[in-house]
Amino acid sequence: MERSGFSVIVPATTANLGPGFDSIGLALNLYMTVEVSSSKQWQVIYEDEAFQGLTTGEDNLIIETIQEIACRYDKKADPVTLSVQSNIPLGKGFGSSASAIAAGIVIADELFSLHLTDKEKVLLGSQLEGHADNVSAALLGGAVFAYFAGENIDFVHHKDVAGAFVVLVPPNELKTTESRGILPETIAHADAVQNGSASAVLTAAILENDWQTAGKMMEKDHLHEQYRKGLFPSFDDIRAFSKTLGAYGMTISGAGPSLIIAVEVGTAEEIAAQLKKTYPYYDSFSIEASQVGASVLSKEKA
Ligand code: HSE
Repeated sequence: MERSGFSVIVPATTANLGPGFDSIGLALNLYMTVEVSSSKQWQVIYEDEAFQGLTTGEDNLIIETIQEIACRYDKKADPVTLSVQSNIPLGKGFGSSASAIAAGIVIADELFSLHLTDKEKVLLGSQLEGHADNVSAALLGGAVFAYFAGENIDFVHHKDVAGAFVVLVPPNELKTTESRGILPETIAHADAVQNGSASAVLTAAILENDWQTAGKMMEKDHLHEQYRKGLFPSFDDIRAFSKTLGAYGMTISGAGPSLIIAVEVGTAEEIAAQLKKTYPYYDSFSIEASQVGASVLSKEKA
């Protein structure tokens, strides 16, 4: 039996944090809310101007996700209208498509009373997205460290992330497929060793809320940064300048084009203001981790 007349909230996310390529995700306090109501046809209404280019029918990613889950769990999916409000920048490296998939999973869970466990949601999301980092954090909030192998997933969820961050967001969008397309097919064993070591220390440091060490490790990626960084104006200069401001470490947010910097708690506003003045090409602002993952906000009978 289906229900509608409820809202879902989903956070933005940043993926990788440097060496945690496809495996580490962190939820951020920018949100999308989706109001779900019964309808005669499937449709999505985007309230924000920036989202007007997205598809609004059955080829919309949120709807595709709901229908896919209905199919996997053998449920009849009656149409719903989804009214979406969001301040997650589109195509800027904050997991907007993972947030759409996470929204679809939570909506389907509610509509079809599936009572999915966190593990089932995270596995479904990773299968639909193709990698685990953004979607796991969008579903659970906080930081998620995942090992995804197609049919199975193992992960550790760290909810209370006590860090402070600055992001630099350029005016252009960048497709994840384009940014992944420039990565090599293989890397040297020595690079894999260095990356594994950095990712291990990064994970341990985040679990201890030691962002000074985590920031250092964010700059020790050996899998993607060196191939991608040419896409982001002033990458090395921003990294060096942010250090003079006391930042712990800078890396690409997800596949880009935005950059994310870990900073000492209490310094984010000032560092963001300095970066904005020095690198006006980017919009620069402070941001925090979100404890909130994708969840149902309210229920009313439609
Ligand atoms: N891990 C992904 C990448 C994140 O860097 O390509 C973007 O989806």
